[in-house]
Amino acid sequence: MLVRAIEEADRIVVGRLVLELWGAHTAVAHGQVFFPASLPGFLVEQQDTVVGLLTYAAADNHLEIVTIDALRRGRGVGSSLVDAAVHRARQLGCNRVRLTTTNDNLDALRFYQRRGFRLASLRPDAVREARRLKPEIPSVGDYGIPITDELDLERWVAPR
Ligand SMILES: CC(C)(COP(=O)(O)OP(=O)(O)OC[C@H]1O[C@@H](n2cnc3c(N)ncnc32)[C@H](O)[C@@H]1OP(=O)(O)O)[C@@H](O)C(=O)NCCC(=O)NCCS
Repeated sequence: MLVRAIEEADRIVVGRLVLELWGAHTAVAHGQVFFPASLPGFLVEQQDTVVGLLTYAAADNHLEIVTIDALRRGRGVGSSLVDAAVHRARQLGCNRVRLTTTNDNLDALRFYQRRGFRLASLRPDAVREARRLKPEIPSVGDYGIPITDELDLERWVAPR
């Protein structure tokens, strides 16, 4: 399994994957619209096939994971992407890695907490506003749970 930074030559493939996995060219979190295909990030490849994708936005003191997807689950793809993001955060001098997920995403909540992320905030009904910015967000998500709320998680990153 190879984890590498997204390069300009990957942009078309990344754009296609984002559309396929996220139902639009945009991702919305905490009232902000992101265009993941134009963000920096990482790809995981296995025998020349893309099996994982993470995109991020870096700010002064934190790195925000905007999208993370394992195309083959339960094989360490997601973990290797989180490791790459934490490593990049350290390189950039950030003190934490953060992300936003939704109340239905129980698998992701489990996954992140097992990897050192802590719940940082809850925004009840925030997905109502997110849907205004991205109408493609479905009303029902994983396990038949209505998608209504946003949750932020963060993991502190020790300085190098
Ligand atoms: C969340 C997500 C990225 C996790 O990715 P993943 O590749 O399945 O994660 P991993 O394989 O690294 O870890 C999942 C479990 O599989 C286990 N695992 C890892 N490698 C394994 C292997 N080779 N064989 C068997 N199990 C393995 C891990 O131990 C882990 O279990 P744990 O949490 O009890 O430690 C993935 O579920 C996903 O793409 N979800 C859909 C998109 C999404 O919701 N993204 C988050 C939006 S906020």
